[in-house]
Amino acid sequence: MSQKIQVANFAALGQVIDQAKVDALHEAAVEAVEKLEKGTGEGNDFLGWLHLPSSITEAELTDIEATAKALRESCEFVVAIGIGGSYLGSKAVIEALSDSFDAYKPGKCKVLFAGNNIGEDYLAELMDLLKGRKFGIVVISKSGTTTEPAIAFRLLKDMLEKQEGKAEAAKRIVAITDAKKGALRSLATQEGYKTYVIPDNVGGRFSVLTPVGLLPIAVAGFDIKALVAGAVEMEKDCDDNVFTYAQTRNALYQAGKKIEILVNFCPRLHYFAEWWKQLYGESEGKDNLGIFPASVDFTADLHSMGQWIQEGERTIFETVLSVGDQTNTVVIPSDDANLDGLNFLAGKRVDEVNKMAELGTRLAHVDGGVPNLLITIPALTEQYLGQLIYFFEKACGVSGYILGVNPFNQPGVEAYKKNMFALLNKPGYEAESEAIQAKLKK
Ligand code: PA5
Repeated sequence: MSQKIQVANFAALGQVIDQAKVDALHEAAVEAVEKLEKGTGEGNDFLGWLHLPSSITEAELTDIEATAKALRESCEFVVAIGIGGSYLGSKAVIEALSDSFDAYKPGKCKVLFAGNNIGEDYLAELMDLLKGRKFGIVVISKSGTTTEPAIAFRLLKDMLEKQEGKAEAAKRIVAITDAKKGALRSLATQEGYKTYVIPDNVGGRFSVLTPVGLLPIAVAGFDIKALVAGAVEMEKDCDDNVFTYAQTRNALYQAGKKIEILVNFCPRLHYFAEWWKQLYGESEGKDNLGIFPASVDFTADLHSMGQWIQEGERTIFETVLSVGDQTNTVVIPSDDANLDGLNFLAGKRVDEVNKMAELGTRLAHVDGGVPNLLITIPALTEQYLGQLIYFFEKACGVSGYILGVNPFNQPGVEAYKKNMFALLNKPGYEAESEAIQAKLKK
């Protein structure tokens, strides 16, 4: 029988709030689900993600797989260019499913990422790696005008065309963007690239189960049909998990717990936390409200942030991602001399030690006044990651509505762009430029 991810309060409330405070938010959570289903809440023009898993057709997935296969067969590297919602979902899933040392192992086509920063060294080093190598590009931008990916694409497109000629380069570039609008759409049409559409009603941070996430994940060799199937399982039945998570975190927020730390004990989940931070940070952080989403990788961060979490300001709670089965088995050997004193662990799997570190940490943090939510994931497979993605998306919509914000816009993201364009003298930003110069003179 197929298993599912599970959300629970693990001594969630500690000394902070009682279950009644969580239960008191149930009506608001039910109303939030209704708003999502009926499309009656704020941001209702961005609800395309809600029934996305069950509406993707077999033919669409097969087409994405075919494009991925062609890229894998013709390229050593495929660079996925995008930022924010056009990057983090695929990065999260690929990292969660990949061998941690995949980059150093020869063989299959590797997916690399660009356009998620403006680091000159990063781009120079990437181009140095790609020099004389067979590479392809998946360029992703819903608006088609975002500066970071546009710069990376201009550089890599130019390089690919010089290396392979314009016609061959065009065969190795896929663009994922709006159906009609934006510079990337016009460019793709002009150059004759294969394209996929980001639906109008799916915002960037909710787009991992569209071609935005699915194509890079398929290029990396993972089973996108299983990923989507996992999401469909949650689409059909995740409300109990959603209620537990959304009600508890909002009740904790109301009780002064302003920071949620997503905890993992599995290094492959680092980027999953980055995806989650964007999802919750952009969705809830507005109108001077919102839980601050943070993350830690344990046990590494127990040796850095552990002190703060155990004894610092009591404004935090944790949500622990607990993974059941590991893919591999490593047993700690016995040593006759036992100079390191480690024979008490001999014969145990490394994961057994990790699981005790996890339980010990949760107990210690609850004792230290850090409420703890627990999400159990049977294993890091496509199916369970699909479940987790959909669960977090729906819980985010519900949580945002309980909080009283529009979870589907991100007006605050524009402020830095306006200043950057003004400082770079982009045409159309003359007034902003003058205002900034005046501010800088003060
Ligand atoms: O969630 C969002 O909407 C943002 O993070 C966007 O995904 C990000 O800004 C990239 O935008 P675009 O895909 O238009 O280049």
